[in-house]
Amino acid sequence: MHIDLLIHSAAQLVTCASLDNQPKRGAAMRDVGLIQDGAVAVRDGVIVAIGSSDQLRSQYTATRTFDASSKVICPGFVDPHTHVVYAGDRVDEFEMRIQGATYMEIMAAGGGILSTMKAVRAASLDQIVTETRMRLDVMLRQGTTTAEVKTGYGLDTANELKLLDAIAALDADHPIDLIPTFMGAHALPPEFRGRTSEYVSLVIDEMLPQAANWFQQSAFAEKGIPFFVDVFCENNAFDVEQSRRVLEAGQSAGMSVKAHVDEFTSLGGARMAVELGAVSVDHLDVTTPDEIDLLAASETIGVVIPAVNFNLGSTHFADAGAILDAGAALALTTDINPGSAPCPSMSMVMAIACRYQHLLPSEALNASTINAACAVNMGHRIGSLEVSKQADLLILDTSDYRHLAYQFGGNLVEAVFKRGEMVVG
Ligand code: NIG
Ligand code: FE
Repeated sequence: MHIDLLIHSAAQLVTCASLDNQPKRGAAMRDVGLIQDGAVAVRDGVIVAIGSSDQLRSQYTATRTFDASSKVICPGFVDPHTHVVYAGDRVDEFEMRIQGATYMEIMAAGGGILSTMKAVRAASLDQIVTETRMRLDVMLRQGTTTAEVKTGYGLDTANELKLLDAIAALDADHPIDLIPTFMGAHALPPEFRGRTSEYVSLVIDEMLPQAANWFQQSAFAEKGIPFFVDVFCENNAFDVEQSRRVLEAGQSAGMSVKAHVDEFTSLGGARMAVELGAVSVDHLDVTTPDEIDLLAASETIGVVIPAVNFNLGSTHFADAGAILDAGAALALTTDINPGSAPCPSMSMVMAIACRYQHLLPSEALNASTINAACAVNMGHRIGSLEVSKQADLLILDTSDYRHLAYQFGGNLVEAVFKRGEMVVG
């Protein structure tokens, strides 16, 4: 049979394949589906065969071939929680934190998310797109082939829609596929100070319907990409009842649920979101053992974000070991944003997770590929190298995939293929 692309002779082909495209749990997290001297056959952007180089070379003739001798082939990384669409930076707050101010103090004083809100409101759509494209370029070179992206720095109807338009424009012209999330309830804008409940009503009655309408007319809906609603359930942001109102309204408008919970304060947000059937609950730094058990008994994915703890200079990390031991599905993410995690690199996240959350490289890789894909409801199309999945894959300049997490501060990604096309390398 004739195909478009045959990548062959890899020292290791790491598939991250899971049963029925379900997220991996427990012992399966230590299995990366390793094939030695592996090869991948691609036609029309889709994987048509996986196996040994001898086998595939005898079966296929290819328009293009790629010799991956001494290299690793692995799935493109899926970054399932980002705030990458923004303007400006917060390097001044970085210096304030070095000198002792905390993230929550800066936020309570009107900085943090609100300082990026000001920059976003002042920026044109073009400016936001241009600034964000440069960040996406770096993420792609570091191996990210799909990223979820949240709004949440506009915090009024016009500016939240501007961020949705930026997400659509970037998805249309950047190799990274984006998965949109509406997060109007990310912070309380200053004009609503002391009136959180009224702001929640604005989010629900005005922003959500317009966001849902935006999605219906977007290329995302056409392509079968999901649309999420998210909320920051935290002191000085939205309490559990306010968060529930927003998420339920999003569900009624056809959105799938995500929630920022237990980043600093244990409020019961994880329980609330899991009970709503959230696709993921994210952060989980101070989640109670009861809620971890509830998570484990559910389909919801727990997304942990060690880049935030690292960036905030904290030695406390989400208890990924307890989450895995309980049998929950675990994913990793960068959370790339200008405040809590200016980090474009999934392999940096894996490196931190292995050191401070005691994940093995195999667990970190599954958490950054198949489980991350499931955390954005895309496990049926991406996240693993399996027949009929999208050919989003990486060539790593190492012969042992564990170096992805063992080394840090560099970049082992030598080439990136998106739907079978080489986009880096
Ligand atoms: O996931 N916690 C809320 N949202 C982001 C931070 C956004 C920001 O600081 O700009 C987070 O950490
Ligand atoms: Fe976040």
